[in-house]
Amino acid sequence: MSYIASRLSVVKPSASMAASQAAKALRAKGVDVIDLGLGEPDFPTPHHIVDAAHFAAKAGQTLYTAAAGTVEVREAVAGKFRRENGLDYTADDVVVANGAKQIIFNALMATLEAGDEAILPAPYFVSYPEMVKLLGGTPVVVECPETTGFRLTPALLEKAITPRTKWLFLNMPGNPSGAVYSQSDLKALGAVLAKHPQVLILSDEIYEHILFDGRAFVSFGKACPELKDRTLIVNGVSKSYAMTGWRVGYAAGPAPLLKAMSTIQSQSCTSVCSIAQAATVAALNGPQDEVARFRQAFEARRDLVVDGIRKINGLTLSPPEGAFYAYIGCASLIGRKTPKGVVLEDDAAVANYLLNEGRVASVPGVAYGLSPYFRISTATSEEVLTEAIARINAAVAQVE
Ligand SMILES: Cc1ncc(COP(=O)(O)O)c(C=O)c1O
Repeated sequence: MSYIASRLSVVKPSASMAASQAAKALRAKGVDVIDLGLGEPDFPTPHHIVDAAHFAAKAGQTLYTAAAGTVEVREAVAGKFRRENGLDYTADDVVVANGAKQIIFNALMATLEAGDEAILPAPYFVSYPEMVKLLGGTPVVVECPETTGFRLTPALLEKAITPRTKWLFLNMPGNPSGAVYSQSDLKALGAVLAKHPQVLILSDEIYEHILFDGRAFVSFGKACPELKDRTLIVNGVSKSYAMTGWRVGYAAGPAPLLKAMSTIQSQSCTSVCSIAQAATVAALNGPQDEVARFRQAFEARRDLVVDGIRKINGLTLSPPEGAFYAYIGCASLIGRKTPKGVVLEDDAAVANYLLNEGRVASVPGVAYGLSPYFRISTATSEEVLTEAIARINAAVAQVE
């Protein structure tokens, strides 16, 4: 008899973490593996942010804070939303949590009743369906094919909404596809949502600064202000400021939702680390030139990967519009045989083959709800990416 609660039976561990673990296990055996599984910036956190943390710790900012976050961090977040996104929120409309992930978890815990549905446009961030299931909800996966730019269309949305729909998740730029929504795309979705007042909108904008080809970011909140009382804008410092380990995410949204999320936070983790909150104030209010530098580096890597992958016979790649992943199509490998005679039945088999024979760790599309693809993270140096592409090329060339 297992002592693990039955609610865990439906939840899978993170696929990207699993890919990294598999890479680590091979490395431990002495195999030289390139790990492109996990997505996190490879840059150090900018100095002035680290300095602000030192200062806060030395100045005695070492106590519990309010569950929703310090006044300073919530003001900094409200200021960021005003300045960068044209959104009119005050510090009272903001909460911080231990990463955007905890924001999402708290929001779902605060709202989902058993059987409530959450619409997840696929490909989606791997944690969305697992969190929904863990909290008793039902993920409704809507496949958004490459032909729609991996974007949800108004028609697909309309078809997916039922009286039980509680949430629509949007993520832009998207992980894993890099897809971005324009103002008019968002307004068209907003027009559908206006007809369905039971639907809350979670707009995960954590990659907003990693945007390519001169695109300007439009927040869902800016495009659809008429839906403000049922929109949760989710963001955080992990990706923009190379602060994944600091664990600070934030959100702005309607008061009753934020209050419930703060209650959950106060009874689970009390607050976010006080020092990480001080660092976040420095990140949001301080100089932004590093953010621009990171963006440029990610764009150069995107170009390198698009160029390299498109030269490989058997793989396809639409240039990602943002974020730091490449969602690589592998339809023409499916059904073919590896040199060892293994049939590549699906994208999980392709990722497995690339790991074991190509020595490159990636994450299969099945984890993101849209196959046959595999995702590589491009958040690593150009040298490593060049070597990884060469290995992928060599492995694919051997498929019969
Ligand atoms: C779309 C998306 N949302 C949220 C997160 C988690 O961010 P955080 O580090 O703030 O928890 C990630 C991390 O990979 C992500 O890709």
